Amino acid sequence: MDHLHTAGNEVVEPTIAGTQEQVARGEMLVGSLCSSCHSTNHSLPPTGDTNLLADIPMPLGQSWPPNLTPAGRIDDWTDVELQRAIRKGTYPNGHRMPVMSGQTFRNFSQEDLDSIVAFLRTLEPIENNLGKPKTHLSTLAMAMTTLGMLPLNPQPESNVPPPAVPIEPTAAYGEYIASFTDCVVCHGEDFSGGTSAILPHGPDLRIVKTWQPDQFVHAMRTGITPDGRVLNDDMPWLGLGKMHDVELIALYEYLLLLK
Ligand code: HEC
Ligand code: HEC
Repeated sequence: MDHLHTAGNEVVEPTIAGTQEQVARGEMLVGSLCSSCHSTNHSLPPTGDTNLLADIPMPLGQSWPPNLTPAGRIDDWTDVELQRAIRKGTYPNGHRMPVMSGQTFRNFSQEDLDSIVAFLRTLEPIENNLGKPKTHLSTLAMAMTTLGMLPLNPQPESNVPPPAVPIEPTAAYGEYIASFTDCVVCHGEDFSGGTSAILPHGPDLRIVKTWQPDQFVHAMRTGITPDGRVLNDDMPWLGLGKMHDVELIALYEYLLLLK
């Protein structure tokens, strides 16, 4: 149990029961949140194969999310190492992952981390086309990171995952979902419209307060708003829309509370 006493005690003991329910929960989370980067077509399986920085019109470098099927190297990592990688963006040797360490996955409950690992462990090994490419950020990207212009800064330390929130169509569960789906990264603090130098500018999400719940779910699933506008690819609905109804309705309930 030595790993429980490593610096910061940052991951508590996983419970990878591998029940159908746990695996299904993990499939929903990985399919909606991870496959947008860790696959070519925003869909499972998460084999990697895509350069995240290819479409950005700046020489930032290359960023290849690795293969998360057992053909990748996480097959050799313990459950604790894998959960630390997801939560904190650190490799088993303690080195920081440039992109992953900027994600908000430390907001996952321990139960959700367990379900993600349970699901990844059920995957068939699928070789990707790339061998083992790596993230190489250019000096420009490093400078922009330091200036806070890229969302690649490590998150503040937190030693233990937050408590699980009941899976119900409530604003409380919506707030939990929003804590790792990064709406605010593009839609701005308080969801009032994005202003980032490099990320897409999502509009003020108070518009959702004029929508019915099913209209919100439809927009998140199809990229088509109630007034018939087609959302462009900058809005990652292809991934987010793979969440189940209960997650989307919960997000809706949470957005209704915006002042
Ligand atoms: C914004 C894109 C992005 C998202 C979303 C994302 N990843 Fe990653 N991930 C990366 C990149 C890029 C790397 C390579 C290291 C780096 O540059 O941070 C990586 C590395 C990893 C690694 C290390 C694997 C290895 O072989 O070194 C794991 C494990 C991982 N991600 C799991 C996940 C899980 C689980 C999710 C969803 C909960 C997820 N990632 C979501 C981009 C992403
Ligand atoms: C990577 C950036 C990004 C993230 C992350 C993101 N969005 Fe968006 N979103 C956008 C952009 C850009 C648009 C505008 C697209 C357009 O008008 O074509 C948009 C549009 C929308 C719209 C339609 C608003 C309208 O114009 O009627 C909704 C609803 C929405 N986003 C909800 C969300 C929610 C909820 C989340 C988090 C769960 C989220 N978005 C995460 C970038 C993002």
